Amino acid sequence: MPRDSYAAGFGYQWNQHRLTQLDSHSGVPISRDRLLAQSGWSATELRGKSVLECGSGAGRFTEVLCGMGAEVTSFDISSAVHANNATNSGFPNLRLVQASIYEMPFPQQSFDYLLCFGVIQHTPDVERSFKTLFRYLRPGGRFCIDVYAAGVAYLHPRHLLRPVTKRLPPKTLYSWVKRTAPPLLPLSTALGATPLVGPYLARLIPVANHQHLPLPNKATRRAWSVLDTFDWLAPRYESPQPRRRLERWTRELGLREVTIERHRGLHVVRGVK
Ligand SMILES: C[S@@+](CC[C@H](N)C(=O)[O-])C[C@H]1O[C@@H](n2cnc3c(N)ncnc32)[C@H](O)[C@@H]1O
Repeated sequence: MPRDSYAAGFGYQWNQHRLTQLDSHSGVPISRDRLLAQSGWSATELRGKSVLECGSGAGRFTEVLCGMGAEVTSFDISSAVHANNATNSGFPNLRLVQASIYEMPFPQQSFDYLLCFGVIQHTPDVERSFKTLFRYLRPGGRFCIDVYAAGVAYLHPRHLLRPVTKRLPPKTLYSWVKRTAPPLLPLSTALGATPLVGPYLARLIPVANHQHLPLPNKATRRAWSVLDTFDWLAPRYESPQPRRRLERWTRELGLREVTIERHRGLHVVRGVK
């Protein structure tokens, strides 16, 4: 992939935060719980199955899938694959590739499961990304894809900053976020504790705050905050999707047993091809 692809900022982010969100690093099964809750799959059913993981970043879900004994093929367009490789290359059941959703070097209709978290809203053509993924899933295969939900996502104050921040070199933006996010966290937390209107007030402060997650200590909380604040501000593309559009795409693809659930700010689409 070209070094200056639109996803270069993601490569930078995941190599700065290679371990931050890994369950094996935080000691808390946040990624495992999210994978099981969103997909509705079980560790037992995944064992020995071929799973295609799209846009794997630093590999927080790669680690979980490999640990469950799935035969995992995982790819990402950016240099994040180096971070993932440094962490997960010890798994004999992992094949890791740097590639784009639009040019996947795999046989079509070949995977039992398809998983794609946090990716397609950051691609230049979300419909094309969504529909391309299914070419690689075998008929009868199961999928789980999440995408930012349109509506509330656009009311977030980060959208006032993004026209500038998404154009900054990743290194410049990252050093700014690293300096500004940690001091803003206590303010965001204090506003969030206000009775009734807390969550709305906290949103006025453009800093990622994971109060809802059982993170082990303040240092970890700060690292997640820096990582996700950068993840809000840096991506070249961010296109949240309305539920109706996702329903239409799944109909056009002839997918079965489709459910679209709301998990915090995400639509989680799952079903069978
Ligand atoms: C927000 S990160 C999510 C990473 C991981 N799935 C997670 O949840 O931690 C989005 C990832 O999608 C990748 N990505 C963006 N466009 C892509 C494309 N066309 N093909 C493959 N990966 C892509 C980025 O490089 C980035 O690592």
